[in-house]
Amino acid sequence: MTTIYWFSGTGNSYAVARDIANGLGDARMAPIASLSPEPMAAEGVVGVVFPVYFYGLPLVVREFLARVDLSRATYVFAVLTSGGFPGRGPAQAETLLRRAGRLPDAVFAVNAPGNYIALYDVPNVDSSRRLVEEAREAATRISGDVKAQAKASVQQRRIARLTSALFSVTFGRRFAATCHKQDRRFLATTACTRCGLCARACPVANIELEDGRPRWLGHCEQCFACIHWCPVAAIQIRGAATAKRGRYHHPNVSIDDIASQRREV
Ligand SMILES: Cc1cc2nc3c(=O)[nH]c(=O)nc-3n(C[C@H](O)[C@H](O)[C@H](O)COP(=O)(O)O)c2cc1C
Ligand code: SF4
Ligand code: SF4
Repeated sequence: MTTIYWFSGTGNSYAVARDIANGLGDARMAPIASLSPEPMAAEGVVGVVFPVYFYGLPLVVREFLARVDLSRATYVFAVLTSGGFPGRGPAQAETLLRRAGRLPDAVFAVNAPGNYIALYDVPNVDSSRRLVEEAREAATRISGDVKAQAKASVQQRRIARLTSALFSVTFGRRFAATCHKQDRRFLATTACTRCGLCARACPVANIELEDGRPRWLGHCEQCFACIHWCPVAAIQIRGAATAKRGRYHHPNVSIDDIASQRREV
């Protein structure tokens, strides 16, 4: 039996996890955000699928890896989806999995549409479609590798390793220290129709609705699900050009899929 633990904001990682699970046939999908905060053990074949944030892992995934015991797992793999710059993510995943009791047998990086619209626009429709298709093909290859219990690692050039190490000690550390409170920069404009979808999309129940409009609660994972799933692009980030930028979520992932990982508090 394979268990695939997953976390996802805009659906790229969810789609990859689901494609791998379908390819394997006997796999169960377990959403990281809804797991209890208690220590736990995972056995059999174990996969962990999640996006890269600031060249590293989302905090919720780091916290999961800090409390899961993988020492009795028979094969462990990690899949990182990113906008093409996984940076120190693969190395960090390897370190955290080793600390959880098991050096991973395989680490894979999958390119997908980048969703960090605080810094750049989403890819255009054609690029998105191509990236989504390539990610689907990558997931099919990965399920073949997992079936064969193959060894794999992410190969990076020396220059990429050096620049990402430098980036990690500056921006990565800052991200880890300030992530939860960064939602103070989020606001809903008058375009908000009070539909409530942002609260539904949030994997960690960090949005409360007040008169139907979102209020952020200060334990944000910065997954950007609320921003991208808002049907009228009403959510902006103060100090970033998000009003001028597009919105993205994976074309074959529904809000119900994303909401299925929701942590109830
Ligand atoms: C806070 C944040 C930080 C990000 N940092 C990176 C990064 O360092 N490198 C990169 O290539 N993509 C980065 N991205 C883009 C995501 O990793 C990428 O779009 C990912 O596939 C999203 O997965 P999801 O759809 O499962 O949420 C970042 C996105 C967010 C929201
Ligand atoms: S998803 Fe958008 S329109 Fe709906 S309540 Fe949230 S901010 Fe308002
Ligand atoms: S508030 Fe928005 S960005 Fe923060 S965790 Fe929830 S959905 Fe993600």
